[in-house]
Amino acid sequence: MKMTEIQELIDRQPPGMALEQPFYTDPDIYAREIDQILLRSWLYAGHASEIPNTGDYLLLEFANESVIIVRASDGEIYALVNVCRHRGSRICFQKTGNEKRLTCRYHGWTYGLDGVLHAAAHMPESFDKSNISLKRLHSRVFQGMIFVNFAEKPGNFDLVEQELGPRTAPYGLENAKVAHRESYPIKANWKLAVENYKECYHCAPAHPEYSRAHSLALPDEAYEDELEALMVRGAACGLSDDVFNKSYENSGEFGVDRAFERYPLLKGHVTGSRDGQPVAPLLGTIKDWDRGASDFKVGPLLYALAYCDHVVLYRFLPTGLDTCDCDITWLVRGDAEAGKDYDLQRLTWLWDVTTKADKRIIEHNHQGVMSRFYEPGPLSTMEDATDNWNRWVLQALSNSEG
Ligand code: FES
Ligand SMILES: [Fe+2]
Repeated sequence: MKMTEIQELIDRQPPGMALEQPFYTDPDIYAREIDQILLRSWLYAGHASEIPNTGDYLLLEFANESVIIVRASDGEIYALVNVCRHRGSRICFQKTGNEKRLTCRYHGWTYGLDGVLHAAAHMPESFDKSNISLKRLHSRVFQGMIFVNFAEKPGNFDLVEQELGPRTAPYGLENAKVAHRESYPIKANWKLAVENYKECYHCAPAHPEYSRAHSLALPDEAYEDELEALMVRGAACGLSDDVFNKSYENSGEFGVDRAFERYPLLKGHVTGSRDGQPVAPLLGTIKDWDRGASDFKVGPLLYALAYCDHVVLYRFLPTGLDTCDCDITWLVRGDAEAGKDYDLQRLTWLWDVTTKADKRIIEHNHQGVMSRFYEPGPLSTMEDATDNWNRWVLQALSNSEG
């Protein structure tokens, strides 16, 4: 589809309605999304505790891109494009691992953990290896969470540190550890997965387990009073006492929508678990259970749900035009021991069961959207965040965005 046709589609898309079919099916729109959104945003790669030792690495992968997130001997974390500077082979293939140096299996070019080329055999005399390194991307570590940006001049990450930092600090995430990480492949266009995550209109019908504990499944007016009470309890427990509803429309650093938001859990629940009871020790500097949870976001594709005893990080990435991946990380206190301080099954139960349900409904959504009879329908008042997201995507795709 030509850009002029894409622009026509964007221009005629009314607010408050689902998107037209080509936004989920057209390869040129998808290619533009990769360029205009994915390659310009801060993307969550992993938690620093996953690569504690020199040579430890993990991969960040989406569409055709692959990045090696590696800890070098100076303790620094580098984000290196996983494309050999010789003839372009991938260098690391495992999702995680440890390497003393990064050696390309194809012809043996060898790079240091900082990406600098150390050895390349049988090259002509004119070859100067000091000019060649693996391409290095901008990366930032925010409270243990590693973010990568492909842009030459990425968006302002300091804003995340300044605005979000103090509000998430009580959770002590720089000292947390990954208790579990799991990838849920979804047979659907990636935007359908994000649209679904952004709204809780579907929570009551699709997530009975979640809806028992979380007030977001209720209409707004039903928990306003509860929210006020939570602010007081939260402050007493050492948590942020503001709701922080500030909107960062069109900010690549926070995506769109609220960057941080607190909400109360429903009666009988102190955390997001099957029985509402704790599943791990209190995080960071939190003094007591305030019976609340916090949502926060970094970039358009990392969504976090913070309870007093664990944090669930949700990351969506496209793996193709009609497939995507939902990667979930469960963080607990760094000194918590599995089997003693937490039971992995109890810890992961709620969001595993909820994500499997989401996977099902998103895939069914995709199947319906593929139909020749699909026609965009009107959104509900509980889908405002989805509508905002759609408009943000359209603006990012638009010519006028640059
Ligand atoms: S492609 Fe890597 S050494 Fe040839
Ligand atoms: Fe859901």
